[in-house]
Amino acid sequence: MHAIDQFQDFFITYLEKQTITKEPENLYEPIAYILGLGGKRIRPVLTLMTTEVFNGDYKKALPAAMAVEVFHNFSLVHDDIMDDAPLRRGNTTVHEKWDINTGILSGDAMLILAYQYFEQYEPVVFMQLAKLFSKTALEVCEGQQWDVDFETRVDVTIAEYLKMIEYKTAVLVAAAMKMGAIVAETSEENANLIYEFGLNLGLAFQLQDDYLDAFGDPKTFGKQVGGDIIENKKTYLYLKAIAFSAKEEASQLLDLFSMQLEDNVAKIESVKEIFNNSGASKATQEAIQEYTFKAFETLEKMNIEDAKKKVLRAFGENLMGRKV
Ligand code: IPE
Ligand code: IPE
Ligand code: MG
Ligand code: MG
Ligand code: MG
Repeated sequence: MHAIDQFQDFFITYLEKQTITKEPENLYEPIAYILGLGGKRIRPVLTLMTTEVFNGDYKKALPAAMAVEVFHNFSLVHDDIMDDAPLRRGNTTVHEKWDINTGILSGDAMLILAYQYFEQYEPVVFMQLAKLFSKTALEVCEGQQWDVDFETRVDVTIAEYLKMIEYKTAVLVAAAMKMGAIVAETSEENANLIYEFGLNLGLAFQLQDDYLDAFGDPKTFGKQVGGDIIENKKTYLYLKAIAFSAKEEASQLLDLFSMQLEDNVAKIESVKEIFNNSGASKATQEAIQEYTFKAFETLEKMNIEDAKKKVLRAFGENLMGRKV
């Protein structure tokens, strides 16, 4: 079994061999730009890793890993338009560097490009990958729509929030892993269990993304800290803060989240203070652990060697410690 940083290297080497840029430049250059900005490459690494967990050859999984990463980057380009985000991976977002129309069309092209990578598989595997991918991509759109709808709603529940992050984020992490299982042609039972593992890991991942959005270090985070607060996002932090606060603070938070301001510095500071004082920050940290441990429980049901379970566990533990 290869190590996580080896899988990362294998993927980056493969990615760099792809010719992305051609005419018209204004369509393809933004694609090369966003893919070249790096990121953690979590999803493609999970695809390659899962293939090996189920005794497949990681090389066979490279096109599927690429499809997942290109799709993920497509979703980020459109997400940054929807969230009005200025920064991505420490650099200017595509729609700010070019313009919104460029972000839309280059994003669309990336979605198609992602699908094209499945053409490299034989019919039976192709069908399974494409089917899972279509289902997942549609769910991501549904999750993204809920995320935006919730910005202007004041009655979002924790259950609704969890469904929203399952769709916008967790299903892609889960699918990235299941694709590895499909390429390895393992049992359906294993494929479903690894999907469940990825789903819980993905929920923990988005909870932590929300946490870091408020409390990440602006010098290293790579995105605009406080972006979710500016956009009135109904995150776990926010929902727990409302639930835990006394009447007065809860209504202050409701007020703060009903505004679109020119200068958000004071808003961000006040909201973060309420997140901390109400116990919402702590509750979010606990939820991150809870979903990570839930993922680990799935491993127990899986029919694979202990050494492989250990690698998957280590991956989850690493994610819990991330700062970006
Ligand atoms: C960001 O994903 C979008 C979410 C689903 C939270 P990542 O945190 O994996 O972004 P990169 O690819 O590492 O930049
Ligand atoms: C993004 O969620 C999920 C998708 C891109 C599908 P966020 O909006 O929280 O992601 P970031 O924080 O901008 O990376
Ligand atoms: Mg965003
Ligand atoms: Mg978003
Ligand atoms: Mg976020």
